[in-house]
Amino acid sequence: MGREELLAPTADPVEAAEETTLRPHRLDEFVGQARLKEHLEILLGAARARGQAVDHILFAGPPGLGKTSLSGIVAAEMEAGLRITSGPALERAGDLAAILTNLDDGDVLFVDEGHRLPRAVEEVLYPAMEDFQLDIVIGKGPSARSIRLDLPRFTLVGATTRTGLITGPLRDRFGFVARLDYYATADLEAILTRAARILGVPLDAGGAFEIARRSRGTPRIANRLLKRVRDYAQVRSDGAITTATAEAALALFDVDERGLDKLDRALLVSLCETFAGAPVGLATLAVTLGEEPDTVEDVYEPFLIKEGFLQRTPRGRQATAAAFRHLGLEPPPPTPEPRPAAGPRSRGETGGPSLFGEPEV
Ligand SMILES: Nc1ncnc2c1ncn2[C@@H]1O[C@H](COP(=O)(O)OP(=O)(O)OP(=O)(O)O)[C@@H](O)[C@H]1O
Ligand SMILES: [Mg+2]
Repeated sequence: MGREELLAPTADPVEAAEETTLRPHRLDEFVGQARLKEHLEILLGAARARGQAVDHILFAGPPGLGKTSLSGIVAAEMEAGLRITSGPALERAGDLAAILTNLDDGDVLFVDEGHRLPRAVEEVLYPAMEDFQLDIVIGKGPSARSIRLDLPRFTLVGATTRTGLITGPLRDRFGFVARLDYYATADLEAILTRAARILGVPLDAGGAFEIARRSRGTPRIANRLLKRVRDYAQVRSDGAITTATAEAALALFDVDERGLDKLDRALLVSLCETFAGAPVGLATLAVTLGEEPDTVEDVYEPFLIKEGFLQRTPRGRQATAAAFRHLGLEPPPPTPEPRPAAGPRSRGETGGPSLFGEPEV
């Protein structure tokens, strides 16, 4: 992946191991996502009051927003055991069967990357989730027979970054599908203040604001920037993070006031200058940036779209007026939409340049 690691929403293995320190363990430590939290509070509270395992829950949303943290919180709030696995780790139906038969009543089974479950494994999961039953086939050929085992009442907590890739039958078996949204700056300030306290870093309100607004709405990025700014403050000043130290450090790391890095700006410069604001096909754009189309689509675009710098149109990717302004450029005058019924004269005049008009994926 070409992205400067500083702003990647995903965690590398070292960071993933370190993250436990900063992870909220109880619902009241979990900042933001107010509606989701209230929903969860009711769901967990009701299950606790009835003395039952809580319904299966799917956490869906972009990387680094707190899905894994919430799965731990569900287990902690239910005072239940937590077993952790993931879609790609469950290669065969037997892998899942082994886990399921070893669960205790009320346990939480966390399946990360639920969209990457193999189909055969998913099929074992359906009756397990629905009826707490496990069907296993013993033997082969004509003598093969299927037996049915009762499973403990467990709670499946799934996480996925790609809701669209979770199959319908699986999604339907979750009692609650919780979508996580990007965080507001004020929430990120609160997350940073908490993290700074845990790490023993002096962080004032100005410093928290400067880091928060560059964190792309993502707690993982906020915590990462905090650590990097802490290093800078230790070497270049007295170790305290203020507005001035945060600004200086983040300028050095090439993270601008909106949380865009060099590669984001390169993408916008390409759309605004090279293509002069015309719609550009994903494949063409990827080639200009020297990236894979998937990387452009999954890594760069979501944030630029969310921030209103980029839009996906039927004719391709297009920079918005806000993108031009962010780069200090004059936005082009709005072009009229091509009208299908307008006759042959308007074709080519208002349509996107055919060079870039390859079909969208
Ligand atoms: N609401 C929150 N309050 C406080 N800290 C948070 C919150 N959400 C996330 N974090 C912090 O961000 C880090 C990343 O969160 P987490 O690992 O739960 O994200 P994720 O959604 O599971 O990401 P991925 O999709 O990559 O698995 C955690 O270590 C935690 O410190
Ligand atoms: Mg996770």
